[in-house]
Amino acid sequence: MSDFSARLAQTQAILERISSEFAPAVFASSLAAEDMVLTDLILKGKLNIGIFSLETGRLHAETLGMIAKVKETYGADIVLFKPDAAAVENYVSTNGLNAFYDSVDMRKECCRIRKVEPLNRALSGNKAWVTGQRKAQSATRTELAYQEDDTAHAMQKFNPLADWSEEDVWHYIRTNNVPYNPLHDKGYPSIGCEPCTRAIQPGEDVRAGRWWWENPESKECGLHVVDGKLVRIKQVV
Ligand code: ADX
Ligand code: SF4
Repeated sequence: MSDFSARLAQTQAILERISSEFAPAVFASSLAAEDMVLTDLILKGKLNIGIFSLETGRLHAETLGMIAKVKETYGADIVLFKPDAAAVENYVSTNGLNAFYDSVDMRKECCRIRKVEPLNRALSGNKAWVTGQRKAQSATRTELAYQEDDTAHAMQKFNPLADWSEEDVWHYIRTNNVPYNPLHDKGYPSIGCEPCTRAIQPGEDVRAGRWWWENPESKECGLHVVDGKLVRIKQVV
């Protein structure tokens, strides 16, 4: 918690810079706790950053409920990007509805159809995008920078919460009365699609409930990975 106000000021400065220098810019919200912090900062700060979610068709009802909660709290709409219906139908009819449990390749193909391709559509035409990733979330995120050159999408990528701890996130939520996904109170620190997320036990790693049947190194859905490599081309700031 020490220096929380410095981290908050840094995050606000980054968001203001994105809004003034990188328009059009968009924030990818999974509607989980980190992303509610950014949503609060963007909407209360009246920043020029659009907010979208990838509505995979497999999200929890509680997660979908956050879309209405954002509307009720801030009067703002989150733009939803859905997967291509024919691609989903083809995957399901060929492999089965839950074929992602069968192999890492099958899992990645489902994530490609339901998340990665819609993400490309959501980002198209923008100069920058924003995520709620934090360094402390996972072994794959320890090198995260505030600003990255995302050459795969030909735009800048910002992670304004890169240095925040989980405690920082919850401190912000509680002190600012930010609405949050009720699953967080039921043992879900990290929330993705319903069939690929489960509650964790006290003491387990925060991402232990995500794709729990896979090795930690493969646990990225492709939103932050291109050709099997993390999109961390160059640290700009
Ligand atoms: S994931 O890669 O393992 O799924 P995680 O759930 O940790 O990601 O979220 C990291 C960041 O990716 C979020 O803060 C958000 O910016 C983006 N993200 C993840 N899922 C979605 C989603 N369904 N819609 C929009 N952005 C998302
Ligand atoms: Fe499919 Fe699971 Fe990936 Fe969601 S997280 S897109 S259900 S494999």
